[in-house]
Amino acid sequence: MARTLNVAVIGCGVIAPAHIESYQLLPGVRVRWACDLLASKARALADRYGIPGVCTDFRDVLRDPAVDAVSVCTDHASHAPISAAALRAGKHVLCEKALAANAAGLRQMFRAHAARPGLVFSGVLQHRFDPAMRYLKRLVEQGAFGAILTAGTHLRCLRTADYYAADTWRGTWAREGGAVLINQAIHFIDLLVWIMGGVAMLSGAHTNLTHKGVIETEDTAVASLQFRNGALGVIDATCSSNIAWEHTLAIHGSDGAVEWRNGCALKVAFASRARTTAVTKALAACVERQTISAAKAHYGAGHPAQIADFVQAIRAHRAPFVPAAAARHTVEVVLAIYAAHHRRRWLRLPARGQAADRNDE
Ligand SMILES: NC(=O)c1ccc[n+]([C@@H]2O[C@H](COP(=O)([O-])OP(=O)(O)OC[C@H]3O[C@@H](n4cnc5c(N)ncnc54)[C@H](O)[C@@H]3O)[C@@H](O)[C@H]2O)c1
Repeated sequence: MARTLNVAVIGCGVIAPAHIESYQLLPGVRVRWACDLLASKARALADRYGIPGVCTDFRDVLRDPAVDAVSVCTDHASHAPISAAALRAGKHVLCEKALAANAAGLRQMFRAHAARPGLVFSGVLQHRFDPAMRYLKRLVEQGAFGAILTAGTHLRCLRTADYYAADTWRGTWAREGGAVLINQAIHFIDLLVWIMGGVAMLSGAHTNLTHKGVIETEDTAVASLQFRNGALGVIDATCSSNIAWEHTLAIHGSDGAVEWRNGCALKVAFASRARTTAVTKALAACVERQTISAAKAHYGAGHPAQIADFVQAIRAHRAPFVPAAAARHTVEVVLAIYAAHHRRRWLRLPARGQAADRNDE
């Protein structure tokens, strides 16, 4: 039998229970530490989930030779220093989205990983585990849409002044790195970018329409994209809507179109009637099943799947399904939208495998 894998969860806020419950579903995995700057938060999760170790300094976790892996569940700006330190200490790392708050953070993390390439380093983007999204990606790869013309994602949601007041890191450039784009829309930007095979260049604009005096970052943003495959794309996102949560992913090609909204197919229309029927049936069969109680509905059911994959990757010495390098491209897209707004021009994204220096402002 495989030896017990010991993990630590760093950051004991809203998302931490989804990590802990997901680890605790897995045989041979023990959550050994709950760590938070606020001892009361770490203690509360330790008591709730029977975790033996509690600490306020993540370096205590990294000094524990029994710890194999850490989940980084803190604010965006602290992802890079904590993940880099964990990799340097020889721990496998699963870091929440957004992988980093800026390009300097990305560089810090990947320098640390380059020195320890045998460690599994993954970024949480749990919606990639949604069966419908995997199916749509396969359809794109099989050429089912013909020449893809446009693809886009739209997020309409509401984040109130109370939401931003509750945690000081949110809505700040220094600690969140933005707002609606880098926090809420990033999930759907990631799906779009992943399914379409990456972004070559983009332009973008953002503004603060209803959160003036509440946050310094954007509550509304748009972007025009050109994907690496030549198709064009759009992103629009706002957290000022009267609609609580609505996300749409649309792919439109010369031979067919799919529009997906809040977990359901809104439109499936292919040139071939047989394909329309087959895709409609396949998408209807793609149901995500919640296996933990901690996740809010809009987190989807991906945390248990991604954490199981992370653990299997560690045990099998293989790459994870969402390598940090893939999560990096999505952050680069978001950072490039901010940079394109400031520079008032189209920006080229780093090609696969290149560093993201150019959009570092
Ligand atoms: N994947 C998802 O669906 C999803 C959903 C929600 C949040 N998130 C992500 O999870 C991360 C955390 O979000 P949250 O909503 O749980 O935030 P939160 O503010 O509720 O919790 C963050 C916790 O980290 C702690 N912390 C900060 N710096 C620390 C440090 N150096 N050492 C130890 N603890 C530290 C804070 O005290 C706080 O308790 C963010 O990156 C966020 O974007 C992801």
